Amino acid sequence: MAPSQDELKRVAAHRAVELVESGMVIGLGTGSTAAHALDRIGDLIRSGALRDVVGIPTSEWAAARASAAGIPLSDLDAHPVVDLSIDGADEVDPALNLVKGRGGSLLREKMVEGTSRRFVVIVDDSKLVPRLAASGLAVPVEIIPFGWALTLRRLQSLFDGVPGFNLKLRTASINAKATTFDEKGSDSEPFVTDNKNYIADLFFENGIHGDLRVISDAILRITGVVEHGLFLGLATSVVVAQKDGVVVVKD
Ligand code: A5P
Repeated sequence: MAPSQDELKRVAAHRAVELVESGMVIGLGTGSTAAHALDRIGDLIRSGALRDVVGIPTSEWAAARASAAGIPLSDLDAHPVVDLSIDGADEVDPALNLVKGRGGSLLREKMVEGTSRRFVVIVDDSKLVPRLAASGLAVPVEIIPFGWALTLRRLQSLFDGVPGFNLKLRTASINAKATTFDEKGSDSEPFVTDNKNYIADLFFENGIHGDLRVISDAILRITGVVEHGLFLGLATSVVVAQKDGVVVVKD
């Protein structure tokens, strides 16, 4: 019987946790794949195989999950250099660029993972894509609530003329589920991030074309935008658990 997607996530997570050593400062990812890594690190601490590990959570969810698993927590102010971060991703392209933020934690994830000596991404093979955003999932952009409708109009203007582009404010009712443009939910309250911000979900029917760094910079130049879910050149390796049982490490 083929392994379930959750089993593949567990396999990838456990392989990445083999890189954790005693004394390390670890960036703790967010999501259903990262959950397996957090639980595994907790098990190794409990068994005595890992000692003096400190975790920097990338979300309130990760902090709660890691605490329950018995991982001692700290923050970036006390530990500005992180030895190793382990986290999932929504999409991974052939250059190891990522889309992240389906769970809404992209800002803290980018802060922690961007300051890590190593950032290991853990995915099942469904996350590998030839081009970012072509699978129908959103590129999330964290924006401040003040003037959010104006910020959405500015994001729309940035991509005017791009065929198949669309965007919408993420609502509480659709967060952490599929964020495809067709999904209902616009009648509920905005989703609020751990940083008390909103999320604009950007949809590119044909995937993102063009220089990703130029696009990244253009999004970040819009006043009201805090950060986006394009993680460019941040992953140092990607652990992929394949349906055939083989685990591939790309770097
Ligand atoms: C959280 O905001 C995201 O960046 C997650 O890391 C990403 O969505 C992957 O989540 P799953 O492992 O649950 O697919």
